[in-house]
Amino acid sequence: MEWHEAYTRPGSGLAERLAEVRTAINHYLDMSGTGFARVISMCSGDGRDLLGALAVRDDASRVEGLLVEYDPGLAERARKAIEGSPAHLTVRCADAADSSVYAEAAPAELVLMCGVFGNISDQDVHGTIAALPQLCGAGAHVIWTRHREGPDLTPLIREWFRTTGFEEVSFVAPDNASWSVGSHRFTGTPQPLDVGAHWFNFVR
Ligand SMILES: C[S@@+](CC[C@H](N)C(=O)[O-])C[C@H]1O[C@@H](n2cnc3c(N)ncnc32)[C@H](O)[C@@H]1O
Repeated sequence: MEWHEAYTRPGSGLAERLAEVRTAINHYLDMSGTGFARVISMCSGDGRDLLGALAVRDDASRVEGLLVEYDPGLAERARKAIEGSPAHLTVRCADAADSSVYAEAAPAELVLMCGVFGNISDQDVHGTIAALPQLCGAGAHVIWTRHREGPDLTPLIREWFRTTGFEEVSFVAPDNASWSVGSHRFTGTPQPLDVGAHWFNFVR
């Protein structure tokens, strides 16, 4: 659970990044009407981005979905957090790279990939973006993060989203920080889930 302790470390930038992710989640929910919104959070940690965004909304009960986290302690913390939420969320302690985990949850209207792209190989980043049409319904938003330490992969990531059928909604990358938060809308055709795939391995 050590990684999450950095959220409270001054100067880590993670608190600012978290605020930006919550803003992007709220932006999606604000413009997505009043019906059910299905969410998938890959490598969700303790779910503080989604749960924090929902905590200040009076329409949280229209959100349903799946959080997938490998670390049992963090998954348990996420479960505790959703107990107090009116949203209809499930936490699975599982490998988020295994496509079969999403069999009941896809397609989603909102996919969170926060804290993932900085921990997997460039090739896996590309492959995972290429697989997102299997998780996204028409018009779905994907919110993602990536540090911009050299070599900065974010120009390629944004290009990979474009060539996979996504249009950019926002890309926030402050000059005085190394983090970035992107939001992309899926304009392509949803694809059936290939339940036998393994999309990435954490290398950090
Ligand atoms: C950098 S943290 C990001 C957590 C959260 N998304 C956030 O932004 O606060 C990466 C998370 O991925 C989890 N993780 C690593 N490999 C995973 C895997 N194969 N499947 C699911 N979760 C994984 C780690 O336990 C950790 O909680």
